[in-house]
Amino acid sequence: MNLDKEKPSRFFILITVVAALSGILFGFDTGVISGAILFIKDEFQLSALTNGLVVSAVLFGALLGAIISGRLVDQLGRKKLLIADASIFIIGTCASALASSVALLTIARVSVGIAIGIASYVAPLYISEIAPTKYRGALVSLNQLAITIGILLSYLVDYSFASHGGWRWMFAAGMIPALGLLLGMFFLPESPRWVCVKGQFDQATKILKRIHGETKGQVELKEIQKTLHQEKGSWKILFDSFTRSSVVIGVGLAIIQQVTGINTIIYYAPTIFNLAGFVGPTNAILATAGVGVVFVISTIVALPLIDTLGRRPLLLIGLAGMTISLALLSFAFSTTHASEFLKWIALASMLIYIACFGFSLGPIMWLMIAEIYPLKVRGLGCSLATAANWGSNMIVALTFLSLIEWFGVSHTFLIYSFLSIISMLFIFLLVPETKEISLEQIEENLRSGLRYRKLGQTKNILVTE
Ligand code: BGC
Repeated sequence: MNLDKEKPSRFFILITVVAALSGILFGFDTGVISGAILFIKDEFQLSALTNGLVVSAVLFGALLGAIISGRLVDQLGRKKLLIADASIFIIGTCASALASSVALLTIARVSVGIAIGIASYVAPLYISEIAPTKYRGALVSLNQLAITIGILLSYLVDYSFASHGGWRWMFAAGMIPALGLLLGMFFLPESPRWVCVKGQFDQATKILKRIHGETKGQVELKEIQKTLHQEKGSWKILFDSFTRSSVVIGVGLAIIQQVTGINTIIYYAPTIFNLAGFVGPTNAILATAGVGVVFVISTIVALPLIDTLGRRPLLLIGLAGMTISLALLSFAFSTTHASEFLKWIALASMLIYIACFGFSLGPIMWLMIAEIYPLKVRGLGCSLATAANWGSNMIVALTFLSLIEWFGVSHTFLIYSFLSIISMLFIFLLVPETKEISLEQIEENLRSGLRYRKLGQTKNILVTE
């Protein structure tokens, strides 16, 4: 790649493909349990409590992984941590497939969760730090596409092994992307931005030239060097006044992505379809597959739009669609008699909801938390936002069925619809537009006193790509 022809180089696409394997692992390892649990339940005679434990072990592990890795990602570097993470995926996957008791299975699933928690933000962070500004949105968002493909693959794998109850094989299939990630990462460079923080400028020059070409590589290096400040990355700096707005935006977006209800659909789609009147497993599974396909398509549609239309319009349009479809779902469940009508309204609103999430909050949350922190505390900041994401994910997953019991299906979806409206306000008032702005410019804005929406300003431009 060179300055005149700004197209991502083939080498660069390879980087993204390997890093996106971590997205596949994220999606596959969260999705696979939905089919496997049906057989595990019988084999280990699970009670309601142990069933819940096995299913939520991954969420708990992911929360743990996000918290414990924040310092490591800034100390070890993005590449080494991703290599270690791929190894945890492999060990956890083997242990899950071979587990001989509920306790061992739970521990194994917590380990896989830890690996997911780390991968969920380190991969987008790594891609955002090696991507040219112009394509950063699309390239990082490939990770979300990989998550949705991973979820679809897990349904497919569950389906293929279901006839002979092969839950161990369902888990074991996760070894393929894990091995791919481990091998692939050995051939990839460290993030040039992290290498600069460590003062290894010769190595950074080599990596930048490999990615961007001779001239552009030099320009990039200079821009990164300009934003290297003396302070050491620490929690104190993260909560310092100049980074506080990044923390509010990051954690806010991470919570919003979950409390607007995405995983009630992802984890419980068949249950909701049964409630809506699609009786029998085949109908519910078919409807769920429809949800998966729409999800993948809408994420693909988002890829070119994120860097052209921008993050804010997509977030606001997406959330508006999610608010309306949740209200529609609530309406559908509020009528008791018209069950045929209810069925189709429920299906249509879930498809609209998924499509809207797929081109907005899905990819853009992971993208923006990798963009808005200053380099020295980027790992810590991302890890905090990611922990908030997995924490809220757990709360929503654990409370969804109880909410239905207490308030009924209709009111439950109305609550998520209301939370979507509040989320729109948060984004409208506080979240900046970061398309076409270099990571260095965002950091410079923070240091010059700009906050929240103003972080997206392009005055005092450092890098123009
Ligand atoms: C969310 C997950 C969700 C997944 C669905 C991700 O961006 O963080 O909670 O299950 O999208 O594809």
